[in-house]
Order: sequence, then C-alpha cells, then structure tokens
Amino acid sequence: MIILRNPADLKEIISKEKEKLHSIGFVPTMGALHKGHISLVEESVKENDFTIVSVFVNPIQFNNPIDLEKYPRTEDADIEILSGSGADAVFFPSVEDIYPDGQNPEKFDFGGLENQMEGKFRPGHFDGVGTVVKRFFEIIEPDKAYFGEKDFQQLRIIQQLVKNENIPVEIIPVPIKREADGLAMSSRNMRLTKEMRQGSPEIFRILTDAKSFFQTHSVKETKEFVEDRFSKTLLKLEYFEIADEETLKPVTDKSGSGRIRAFIAAFAEDIRLIDNLSLV
Ligand code: PAJ
Repeated sequence: MIILRNPADLKEIISKEKEKLHSIGFVPTMGALHKGHISLVEESVKENDFTIVSVFVNPIQFNNPIDLEKYPRTEDADIEILSGSGADAVFFPSVEDIYPDGQNPEKFDFGGLENQMEGKFRPGHFDGVGTVVKRFFEIIEPDKAYFGEKDFQQLRIIQQLVKNENIPVEIIPVPIKREADGLAMSSRNMRLTKEMRQGSPEIFRILTDAKSFFQTHSVKETKEFVEDRFSKTLLKLEYFEIADEETLKPVTDKSGSGRIRAFIAAFAEDIRLIDNLSLV
C-alpha cells in the first residue's frame, strides 16, 4: 500500500492508474479506523481496480472545538489496519493542502436536507462536509465513492451534492457495521468510559424495539415510547426522529408511500453518538 502525504504525489499516482484505464474507488475518512470503515474499503476493493482511502480530520465540519481537539488521531494503527484491507493507497493531507486559501466553508443548498436533524443540532456541519468532499472529488476524480449508512444524512447530502454540481462519481451506500452487542461502530466509541461503553448498546436496543412498536402504533406514540425508554438509561437523548429517507423530513403519519427511517443522537456523558434504523 502506498502512503501519500501531498496532493501532487497523489495526482501522479492517479494519472498513471487512469492511463491504464483503471477504475478508481475512493473512501473518505477521518481516521481512527475500525471495521466499519474497513467494510467501505472492502466494498471499493471488490468493485474497482485501485482504491484510495483519505484520512483527514476536517476542522471545518466540527461545530464543537473540544470535539475537534479530542478527535482520536491514530495514524500508525490506521496504516496497519489498512495494510490488510486491500486498499492500494492512503492519503494523509495537511490542512494547508486541503485549504490553501484558508478554512472557509462553501455555503451549499442541499434542498432542505441540511436543515433536519444533524443540520439542526450541528450548525454549519454539512457545509464543512460538502466543502471537503467536493475538494477530494476534485483532486481524486474517483469513479465510485463509498459512504456509510451510519451517517445516513451525510450520505443523502453527498448524493445531492454530486447531483447539484454534476460531479461524475457514483455514490455507493454501505450498511452500518455494529459491535456484537449492537453498538454502531464509531471512532468516538474509543473515548467511552467502561460504564458508558456498557450502557451505549441501549441505543440500538431502543431503535430495534421502536421498530416493532411502530408497526402497531403512531409516530407520536413511538416518539413517546423512545423518550420514556431513554429516560431510564445513562444516556441523554438529543433527538429521535422518524423521517422520510428521500427528503429527511419528519414523518407525522404513516400514510406516505416513501421509505421511513428512525434516527437518534444521544450523549454518553460528553460523547455524542448517532445511529439509525430503517422502519419500513
Ligand atoms: P468518518 O466518521 O471517519 O467516517 C468515514 C466513513 O465511514 C463515512 O462514510 C461513515 O458513514 C463510514 N462509517 C463510519 N462508521 C461506520 C459503521 N459503523 N458502519 C458503516 N460505515 C461507517 O464521515 C466522515 O468521517 C467525514 O464526515 C468525511 C465523509 C470523511 C468528511 O470529512
């Protein structure tokens, strides 16, 4: 696996691959890699001739400076786990490489997708994500790019980004990878105390129980059910939303024909965890 640290070297490698008419798969990450990230890499390795993984903690998508400061950085371990994954190259750019003209997020219109859930609670977050992903797409020009359903709203936003900007890349969604106890894998999990690590799988249990409950109850009743369940845990619920997968708008009754998904953000002490589950 090739380790790259500046965009010029990366571009050279990519143009050689393109000369050979090789397809390029791209997996953007912020590092502290786990099996969830690796499932994206494996998907890309299966479907492309050359797979590039980026590791870049993007400062402009953090609305909370403490979260940015405490975000785990584990470069050696990332290289090790990627070496066994089939990835062909890993790219570790600097902040200056990505933002040579300063850290100014572009302002995007994602047709309202950006105003729901994560967008409401993390102002500016999706402008930061859109800016960095667009920049990577410009540098790498991948044929396919892989995004996890763990961040379902982010996935929808990136699908909208490539549509709005006519970027010729296929966005491939990858299902959520979970620990044996159901907790969605996340780089933030390594910051959980032992007690909170034990309590956090409750998020997935509540989501699964909410899915059954929703089959015979209304949206409003399901929301009350979830709030009540959370009040009996160590976790603090930030939001629970039942939303249309296409528009991400909250669903108020079951009469619509679109697919519906439940979304949760909750705090385990100061660690913010998110998860989601398809309901119908
Ligand atoms: P990061 O949180 O590192 O996630 C990188 C990719 O891995 C995202 O597409 C995310 O949805 C996926 N992922 C994380 N945990 C997963 C899990 N348990 N199962 C499946 N996929 C999982 O998301 C970001 O970084 C950044 O916002 C980024 C897109 C890199 C832009 O900075």
